[in-house]
Amino acid sequence: MDIFESDDSSTPLTSDEKNGLKLKWIMLRSELNEAEARNIAKAQIWLYSNKNKDVCSDIFLRELHKRMFDDVWKWAGTYRTSERNIGVVPYQIPLKLMQLFDDVKFWIENKTYPNNEIAVRLHHRLVQIHPFPNGNGRVSRLMADLLMEKLEGRKLYWGNKNLVNVSEVRKAYITALRKANEGDYSDLLEFTFAE
Ligand SMILES: Nc1ncnc2c1ncn2[C@@H]1O[C@H](COP(=O)(O)OP(=O)(O)OP(=O)(O)O)[C@@H](O)[C@H]1O
Ligand SMILES: [Mg+2]
Repeated sequence: MDIFESDDSSTPLTSDEKNGLKLKWIMLRSELNEAEARNIAKAQIWLYSNKNKDVCSDIFLRELHKRMFDDVWKWAGTYRTSERNIGVVPYQIPLKLMQLFDDVKFWIENKTYPNNEIAVRLHHRLVQIHPFPNGNGRVSRLMADLLMEKLEGRKLYWGNKNLVNVSEVRKAYITALRKANEGDYSDLLEFTFAE
C-alpha cells in the first residue's frame, strides 16, 4: 500500500504534495507517524512558553501548524491549493476561517454555548474547512484544547487512545463528526466530555 494513502475517511495527498516531504528517508507510514509525532512534541514545548497567545486567529492557526509539521513537510503552515473530498474550495479557506474565528469570539463574548461546546464547534468547523493539505485533525484537536484551556482551565477528552491510528475510538470520533456535519453535535459533545 502507498504510505500516503490515508487509512481513514480523510484525504489522499496529491503527487505534488508528496514532493513536499522533507524527510526523504521515510518509507513507511509508521516512520511518517513517528517523525510527525516528534515534531508535534517540539511544538508542545513551544506552546508551553507561549501560553498567552490569542488562539482565535488564522495567524495563530498557521503558526501552530508550522510548528507541528515543519520538520517533516515543506508546506507546513500554508493552506492547501487543491480540492479534496472534504473541505471548502481552496480560494474560500481564508474567508471561511475569518468567519469561524469571528463566530467563536462572538460565542465567547455572548456565552452562546457552554465552553466545551464552543471548543467542540471550533474543532468541527476547522476540520470541515480543512485548510491544510494534511494534519487538519491534529491541529484542530489541539486548537480546541488550547481554547478549552483558556476558557475552562482543562482540555477536552478525545478518547483513551491516540486518534491517529485506526481503532474503534477513531471510528466513534469520525462517526460523531459526520453527525456534526448534519448539525447534530450531541455525539461529538459526549465523545469529548470527561468528568
Ligand atoms: N466525514 C468527515 N467529516 C468531518 N471531518 C472529518 C471527516 N472525516 C475526517 N474528518 C476529519 O479530518 C481529519 C483528517 O484530516 P487530515 O488527514 O488532514 O488530518 P490529520 O491530522 O492528518 O488526521 P489525524 O490526526 O486524524 O490522523 C480527521 O482527524 C477528522 O478530524
Ligand atoms: Mg492525515
